[in-house]
Amino acid sequence: GGRLLGALGLGSLALGSAVGLMATSGWLISRASQQPPVLYLMVAVTATRAFGIGRAVFRYAERLVSHDAVLRMLADTRVAVYRRLERLAPAGLRGTRRGDLLTRLVADVDAFQDYWLRWLLPAGVALTVSAASVGFTAWLLPEAGAVLAAGLLASGAGVPLLTATAARRTERRLAPARGVLATRVTDLLTGTAELTVSGALPARTDAVRRADGALTRIAARAAAVTGLGDGLTALVSGLTVTGTAAFGAQAVAAGRLSGVAMAVVVLTPLAAFEAVLGLPLAARYRQRVRRSAERVYEVLDAPEPVREPVAPRQAPASPFPVVVKGVTARYAGQRREALAGLDLTLEEGRRVAVVGASGSGKTTLAQVLLRFLDPEAGSYTLAGVDACALDGDDVRRFVGLCAQDAHLFDSSVRENLLLARKDATEADLRAALDRARLLDWVDALPDGLDTLVGEHGARLSGGQRQRLALARALLAGFPVLVLDEPAEHLDLPTADALTADLLAATEGRTTLLITHRLAGLDAVDEVIVLDAGRVVQRGPYERLVTEDGPLWEMARREAEAESWVAVG
Ligand SMILES: Nc1ncnc2c1ncn2[C@@H]1O[C@H](COP(=O)(O)OP(=O)(O)OP(=O)(O)O)[C@@H](O)[C@H]1O
Ligand SMILES: [Mg+2]
Repeated sequence: GGRLLGALGLGSLALGSAVGLMATSGWLISRASQQPPVLYLMVAVTATRAFGIGRAVFRYAERLVSHDAVLRMLADTRVAVYRRLERLAPAGLRGTRRGDLLTRLVADVDAFQDYWLRWLLPAGVALTVSAASVGFTAWLLPEAGAVLAAGLLASGAGVPLLTATAARRTERRLAPARGVLATRVTDLLTGTAELTVSGALPARTDAVRRADGALTRIAARAAAVTGLGDGLTALVSGLTVTGTAAFGAQAVAAGRLSGVAMAVVVLTPLAAFEAVLGLPLAARYRQRVRRSAERVYEVLDAPEPVREPVAPRQAPASPFPVVVKGVTARYAGQRREALAGLDLTLEEGRRVAVVGASGSGKTTLAQVLLRFLDPEAGSYTLAGVDACALDGDDVRRFVGLCAQDAHLFDSSVRENLLLARKDATEADLRAALDRARLLDWVDALPDGLDTLVGEHGARLSGGQRQRLALARALLAGFPVLVLDEPAEHLDLPTADALTADLLAATEGRTTLLITHRLAGLDAVDEVIVLDAGRVVQRGPYERLVTEDGPLWEMARREAEAESWVAVG
């Protein structure tokens, strides 16, 4: 706030110096033509010099101060948006696209700086300097002051209003168009392989070209409007100077104004128009920023999938027993509940498997357990303490997730593991890799633990990727570990081998294994079968496969599919 006011003051001084320079030079030239003793001119000569230097120095200082202030503010906004995205991302952002999110975080937040630097500051400076110029001119010759006031008003308020109206539609389309282009480009870059295979690459490239074309057309129309504004301002400025000159000449003829002052009356307006020259553009920045601001606030004001307690309760020493009772959960804006009336108890060391068709609510259960999604009804307690009364991060220290699409960072194996535990020793890392059955592979690599995994783990096979994610989750040593379909996307033998290894690695540790394969589930204590968010069957695997029911049906279909694979 203070910094911006300082910038406003400095900016006004810079522009004021320009006007002062013009006025004193005008006076100096006309006075000099009368050839007075040089001494009479000394003050004006010095003033001209001071204004000339002041203009540059003040402009420089204003840029320095205003950018410093705005960049600070921008950093704060970006952090706020990022924090918000971090809170929303796990359960609340499926409707927003990645490229678009990136534009919101970068370009739209950047546009905020234009609000201060290109709208508020120029407008404030223009107002201050215009008022001072009008006051000064009116003091010399009231009717010239009135003409100047009218001219400045016309070009400072009228022209911007006109161009803003002309450009309204264009400006509103600019930010979304930028988002579309970014989305299309990221789609194209991340999906090049799939698009090439499916022959859709030319069509997608065309789509990018079209998005780019749309953006170019918007820019061209914006430029045309800017040109119009500049032309109108020049016209008004010419008329104003002519007007003041006419009134000045009359006043000189009537003896009310000295000839020397007449130069000042004519030249001051000429310089004063510099103040309003940029206002049409400034007004358009205001429009443009408004759309960007809306987009940023859409993120900042999105409904939270999780409400954090105002005063979180002290976390219990141990989370056991973890009890979920009658939990119903729904995603924002969905009519159907994703989870309905679910009960689940996790005692220390107990392992439970959740199976069910795609969309049956398995991942949703994981989201609830990690407090990425608040239950609509029912209770979720850790050692008897309501999980909603705890800080979400405390809950996530107890309950860890190895996600369905666990993210690997474009870095080394070591760095990806250390993410789970910063202070892990080499021995810890190796032990975790060993339990995920990845150690032999890592040891055979020339760079060992320092092998780079590529973007999203692209240099690893699907199985290695999942095992690395598993090793990371094991290393973190969560009291409760939720594994969401760790074997998804793998061929059946690899999937079953991974599941077997994973069940061996989690022996004696509290685990919730989400899976769509039944192989190996005889090792867990309880199997829960979900269908459309409801538990349709539960109990030990041995019992469920023998009794007539959903699990038996799943086992039959799985065996059938496998025999098909074997035949094929
Ligand atoms: N962020 C979301 N917004 C809206 N609806 C969602 C969201 N996530 C999931 N759903 C819906 O909730 C239901 C349960 O989804 P969930 O992801 O829990 O299924 P799942 O059992 O994990 O399926 P899969 O085996 O395919 O991973 C589905 O109908 C799904 O469309
Ligand atoms: Mg899922």
